Amino acid sequence: MDTPLIDPFARPISYLRVSVTDRCDFRCVYCMSENMTFLPKAELLTLEELDRLCSTFVNMGVRKLRVTGGEPLVRKGIMTFFRAMQRHLETGALDELTLTSNGSQLGRMADELADCGVRRINISLDTLNEEKFARITRWGRLGQVLDGIEAAQNAGMRVKINAVALKGVNEDELFEMVEWCAARDMDLTFIEVMPMGDMGGEDRLDQFWSLKDLRARLAERYTLEDLAERTGGPATYVRLKETGSKIGFITPLTHNFCESCNRVRLTCTGELYMCLGQEDMADLRAPLRASEDPRVLENAIRAAIARKPKGHDFDYSRQSVEGQVSRHMSHTGG
Ligand code: GTP
Ligand code: 5AD
Ligand code: SF4
Repeated sequence: MDTPLIDPFARPISYLRVSVTDRCDFRCVYCMSENMTFLPKAELLTLEELDRLCSTFVNMGVRKLRVTGGEPLVRKGIMTFFRAMQRHLETGALDELTLTSNGSQLGRMADELADCGVRRINISLDTLNEEKFARITRWGRLGQVLDGIEAAQNAGMRVKINAVALKGVNEDELFEMVEWCAARDMDLTFIEVMPMGDMGGEDRLDQFWSLKDLRARLAERYTLEDLAERTGGPATYVRLKETGSKIGFITPLTHNFCESCNRVRLTCTGELYMCLGQEDMADLRAPLRASEDPRVLENAIRAAIARKPKGHDFDYSRQSVEGQVSRHMSHTGG
């Protein structure tokens, strides 16, 4: 490896999120519109191309690889990709190979993921109420996800639940979710809803539940101990003294964490997004296909990192949605 990847704000880039498909078997209201048009399959990078791209990033200093989607586990042949990435864990080049999933396919895939070296998995779950779950995900079934979560735990993976904090939707379930996760020895992270994609009638401002408020609500019932530990992502954590469980907060709106940003996102067609909250991206597919010489791709990656912006411009504080990004969250996998 030569010089590591450092962006213009002196932030080392050590975390690559790779979206392996834009497709999903759910249609979560804050993530996709009901009638999504997906990329034609011919546009996708092959699994071999994804391997070459990710391996190049690993050679350039990426230590954490998170596979996302859409729903990553609906991509055909995805286990071949996980299996291939396992070699970077084995050589010690990667610290962590992980994924963010909606949980629907874990019943049949959890064992194999664990066998590929996945130790930790983040699963999205915003509610424990079956009917509410169906409303939020449009197409999902809660029971299938709960089975998936159980399968992941049985396979020996550490599970972290991701819940988007939604005013008037899951506010009333705060304590139930905390207790449910604590009883199952799972961490729980809350995320502030971000203005991404066409909102098709959904009003993000109406749904926005600030994690400052959520945290204050938690403090009414529990003793919160701030933890210094980080998982390499943007969450900060507390431990609840009474349950012993860990709660994470991802606060793009109320507390910007961009100054410590360490990540970039690759899409399934080889676009590199240098920031989740900006439109700029670099095409890596062309240099990837142009030459077998790894330096061509490496130069394209360095040029892209040199364009990484300072941060996002999401803002609801003027009682309006600002800094909105036109692409859907499913395009880059969050
Ligand atoms: P850990 O490894 O557990 O720290 O995971 P993570 O938080 O990095 O990954 P995860 O996929 O669980 O991220 C949860 C959500 O946090 C994402 O889907 C996004 O909504 C949000 N998020 C993650 N990274 C960023 C980021 O760089 N900027 C912003 N604005 N939001 C992010
Ligand atoms: N704002 C915040 N989080 C979102 N996610 C999807 N869309 C949004 C949004 N608009 C979350 C999902 C999942 C992760 C991949 O991204 O709930 O946990
Ligand atoms: Fe990094 Fe952009 Fe996320 Fe900020 S919004 S943490 S700069 S990816």
